[in-house]
Parts: sequence; structure tokens; C-alpha cells
Amino acid sequence: QETPTDMTYTVTAQAGETQLLPGPKTKTWGYNTSILGKTIVFKDGKNIHVTLKNQLPEVTTFHWHGLNVSGPIVDGGCHAPIYPGESHQIDFKCDQVAATLWLHAHPCPETAEQVWRGLAAMVIVQDKTESQLPFPRNYGVDDIPLVLQDRRFHQNNQLDYMADYDPDGVQGPTPMINGTINPYFDVTTQRLRLRILDGANRREWRLHFSDNLKFTQIASDGGILPEPVDFTHLMLTCAERAEILVDFSQYQPGDEVTLYSDDVPLVHFRIHQFAKDDTKLPDHLVEIPDPPVTPNTKVHQVVMSGMDEQVEINGTKFDMQRIDDKQKIGNVEYWDISNTNDKSTGMIHPYHMHATQFRIVSRNGHAPYPNERGLKDTVGVNPGETVRLKVGFNKLGVFMNHCHILEHEDGGMMAQFEVY
Ligand code: C2O
Ligand code: CU
Ligand code: CU
Repeated sequence: QETPTDMTYTVTAQAGETQLLPGPKTKTWGYNTSILGKTIVFKDGKNIHVTLKNQLPEVTTFHWHGLNVSGPIVDGGCHAPIYPGESHQIDFKCDQVAATLWLHAHPCPETAEQVWRGLAAMVIVQDKTESQLPFPRNYGVDDIPLVLQDRRFHQNNQLDYMADYDPDGVQGPTPMINGTINPYFDVTTQRLRLRILDGANRREWRLHFSDNLKFTQIASDGGILPEPVDFTHLMLTCAERAEILVDFSQYQPGDEVTLYSDDVPLVHFRIHQFAKDDTKLPDHLVEIPDPPVTPNTKVHQVVMSGMDEQVEINGTKFDMQRIDDKQKIGNVEYWDISNTNDKSTGMIHPYHMHATQFRIVSRNGHAPYPNERGLKDTVGVNPGETVRLKVGFNKLGVFMNHCHILEHEDGGMMAQFEVY
């Protein structure tokens, strides 16, 4: 329900069954439904009230990935357990620019398995600036969420997390898009806005369309980019989001355009009749605030090392009883995030921080990629690389920072910081 100032929601984590493949249904978990959840929309400036209910047979948490909120209970990481049969209300003010975020389970060390079962949903923040830009925003028609995940199906179409377990991240051969297999979308407008989320436990996606169709990225994790960026190929690592605009003007009704990751088809876009759309994007979209670094602060080092069970941050594993860093509210610091893995054989670690949106300053001393000039909460750190972030701490509480390969996070590649 929505009043001029308040928005009220109930989110129930529940078990169910989903028809994913022909034959038996798959046992899955979801939010208010059997798998994933309907997109949740928050508006900047509103007071949000969410009742969180756990109808699962085990403890879970509700983490709002990318949301700038105070306190670990609202943030919903491992400090905020909700036990089976219990419910809890959180209240906060939506206080950030328009962005594509997400909700996922985050009980440590069960995050990976719960997300694998289906506990993830997209969250959209709307604001006034975004509403005045010439972007498609007719949800479900020309503004489409794409939650990219992968699964392996066992006997009777069931998931079996333990059978597939890999400490470097569970993967499956079958793409699962918005909780469906092999989906198509009916294109009825010339321009489409896709809000893409890498919701996989470990997989990175190398996205491109058939015909190498050009597309334009307009937003990254934390909001709209300062300038639109044109691509034919885009990589997303775990938990990253990209909003892209695709223009189908070169196609005819009856044509089909396919979105791939490498050579694996993800979504088929079936072209129908659409009205001509001459909308041009401005060269400049939004201003990104860039507060100066707080004087007399050191560059903070975050060293991500190892693979499989050996994963660590700064030579140690996560301990909920230990605060790894303290920050005074309002501090702005450079954080150097490095990945010590071998350049040729090591994995990318997608590094994520709760309760803040950072800026990417450099990669190994070089300028970041053109689509990294906006706000981010997750950044893929390549093997052998150091990425410098500029991080502001604006919300009080204890929060986590970690690798977003979910099995690395559950395996202890996580730390926590306190903002006081
Ligand atoms: Cu998306 Cu700590 O999580
Ligand atoms: Cu998060
Ligand atoms: Cu990792």
C-alpha cells in the first residue's frame, strides 16, 4: 500500500514448487511465490515498512543488496536472523538515487544454498531525476528485469545443492532467467530497457546479442551513469547490475534476436510490430557526487587471497565477533582491493560492500572501464589486480564486505566494518 509518504510491504520467504522443465515440478524457495519474487519498487524519500516473514524450515535473513540503510538489522546480513515461523518488521527511509538493486537471503554460512534454492528478487528504486530522463519505464512492456542464474537439474528435475557443491562456487549448465528456462520475450516497442542482474552463485556472464547488435548501458549497480556507454559485449560478475537500452529498429516483425552469454542462448526476443521511436539520449545523464577524501586517512587495504577452502580477506576468515575496521560517519576513504590470485589460472573475485555505493578510481593504476564511472556496490577484481575505490560511509551500523561468489562468502572471504 502507498500513502503520500509511506509504502508498506510484506515479504514471506516460503517453500514451493515450480514448473521449470517438462515433467515433475522442481522444489524451490521464493519470496511470496515459489521461486525468486516479484520486483519490489521503492521510491526515494518514502518511509518504507516491510514485514519479513520466514515460513521456511530454517533460519534466513533478508538482505537488501545495494540499499543505503542504517543498522545491520535493516540491512539484513547475518546479524539479522529470522527463525522459522517468525516475522519481523523493518522501517527505513528510502534515501538514494534511482537504481536496480536486489533482495537475497544472507544467513552465514547458508547464503549460497538459500540463493540457489531461489531466495532472490529484484528491487527497483525510483526517483525524480530518473523519471525525467528519456528512458523506457513501462514495467513488463519496455522495462524488463533479467535475473541471470544457472542451475543443474538432477533426477525428477530437482536441485541438489550438496551434490553440486564446489567451494569455488556452484554452477549449472542450464541458464535460468527470471526463474524460467529458455524464455522468450515479445518485443512490442522499438526500444527496450533491460535491468540485468547477475544473480548467479559464481558465474560471470559475457553478454552479447545476435548480429552483435549494439546496446547502450545507462546504469550500473548504484544508479544512472554520468554518460551512456555503447557496447556490443558486456561482462557482469556476481551481484553486478547493468541497465541497458536495446534498439530494435533494424528488425522486422517475425525476426528473432537472441541474448547470449558466450555461445549459450539466454533469452529470445521475438520482434513484433512497433511504433517508430526517435528518442535520443542526452550525452550527459546525471551528475555523480564526488566528495573529497577525508584528510589524514590512510589508504585502506583489502587483500582477497586464495581459492576453494583457502579463501581469506587480509589473511583471515570472517568472524562475526570481530570488527575488522571502524569508520566515523561521513568518512570518505580510498580502499585498495586486491586479488592475489595467479593471473592466468586464478578466479575473479567480485568484491561487494554493504550500506554504501562507492566509485571506482582506478584498476592497477589505469582508468576504470567507461561503464565504471557511476555508483557501484560490487566490482569484479581480476586476478593479479588492485582496484582503488573511493568509499563514503554514511550509514551507522555494522556491515559486511565480501567476495560475492556466494561460496567464497560462506567460506569466510568476508569482513565487517562498523560506522559510528
Ligand atoms: Cu549481496 Cu553481503 O551481499
Ligand atoms: Cu549486499
Ligand atoms: Cu571470491
